[in-house]
Amino acid sequence: MSPAQRIANRLEELARCTDDPLPRLTRTFLSPAMRRAHDVVGVWMSEAGLAVHVDAIGNLVGRRDPTVSSPGRKTLLLGSHLDTVRDAGRFDGALGVILGIECAAALRDRALPFALEVLGFSDEEGVRFQGTYLGSRVIAGTFEPQLLDLRDVEGVTLADAICAWGSAPSALAAEARSPEEIVGYLEVHIEQGPVLEKHRLPVGMVTAIAGQSRARVTFHGMAGHAGTVPMSSRRDALCAAAEFVLTVERLAQDTHGLVATVGQITATPGASNVIPGMVELSLDVRHQNDALCKSANDTLRTAGTLIARRRGLAYEFDTVQESNAVPCDTRLQDVLKEAIRAQGLAVCELPSGAGHDAVALAALCPVAMLFVRCRGGVSHHPDEFASDEDIAVALDVLVQAVERLAQDRG
Ligand code: GLV
Ligand code: MN
Ligand code: MN
Repeated sequence: MSPAQRIANRLEELARCTDDPLPRLTRTFLSPAMRRAHDVVGVWMSEAGLAVHVDAIGNLVGRRDPTVSSPGRKTLLLGSHLDTVRDAGRFDGALGVILGIECAAALRDRALPFALEVLGFSDEEGVRFQGTYLGSRVIAGTFEPQLLDLRDVEGVTLADAICAWGSAPSALAAEARSPEEIVGYLEVHIEQGPVLEKHRLPVGMVTAIAGQSRARVTFHGMAGHAGTVPMSSRRDALCAAAEFVLTVERLAQDTHGLVATVGQITATPGASNVIPGMVELSLDVRHQNDALCKSANDTLRTAGTLIARRRGLAYEFDTVQESNAVPCDTRLQDVLKEAIRAQGLAVCELPSGAGHDAVALAALCPVAMLFVRCRGGVSHHPDEFASDEDIAVALDVLVQAVERLAQDRG
């Protein structure tokens, strides 16, 4: 079987590890489907000659040469994330993990001057707790203990979720790697946008990854009888939230380069004949320029305060996470460029508007990313698609890039 065929089969098999009824793919942080994904992907890692374990935050780790240690011997990290959004496509995250494994398999009999590790991170999407990069932040040593107090929609804290999974919050700190041990991190990912398709190129090289901020916004009004409370005396939390959502849209439409999204909303108590007393919503704000991202966030925080005040509601705006834009490492970019050119392809350089584990790992080591053409730019949607041919090119580029890094250090 060709590597491309095997990768296609594996993407399909991994998409069957879902918390929702098939064919809907949803696999969130530390869910039952994530455990099944670990079993499946762990077998592929073993077959590629990697020693497999799951770390304390639920990252799946496959390591080559676990017993070879010599002074100064470092590790090159490959991979991406194993969690998904709700009703996801099958390439986002999974592609980078599977290509990492395939790359390790291709280089199995080659001596390398560094160890190789393939990582399947447990949370990049932030669907369950809204704080993103939980897995990669633990590896990078930037996981802040207050994150353990985050709650999912069921009210389960992150700390409790880790214990229920069979791990312990106290074990997280020991998973942090030290910068001296790491050569760098290379991540392959579906582009999730239309640029490569427009340029008719199978792969492209990422220059930088946009910053983002995520917040949880709550409007507290007063629940009441839908048939008896006069319109003039209502404190309807959902009407305030609706006004806020449209304010978010307007600001992003009026600000060049700004994207802002309310993707999740919960109205409580949630009955057709009860005025919503409380609404919680998620806010995701992004801009390539960190200062503009921050000022948009401040503007929206204030706008929410004014909406709540005018309507006689209480209001909370909790920033769950802020990450700055991250530039990719120049040396690793050069290596990727050389590897792309070696395929006889032009190098398309592009920024990433989506967040990636590379953002968190940039605090630990040099990072770089290779994007794979995405049909129609469609992503975070079941129609997400990258062709076998493009994926085969991405694999060749990744293998070449690792070989070039090995020559550099050999
Ligand atoms: C990850 O997919 C993100 O939200 O950018
Ligand atoms: Mn992703
Ligand atoms: Mn994603």
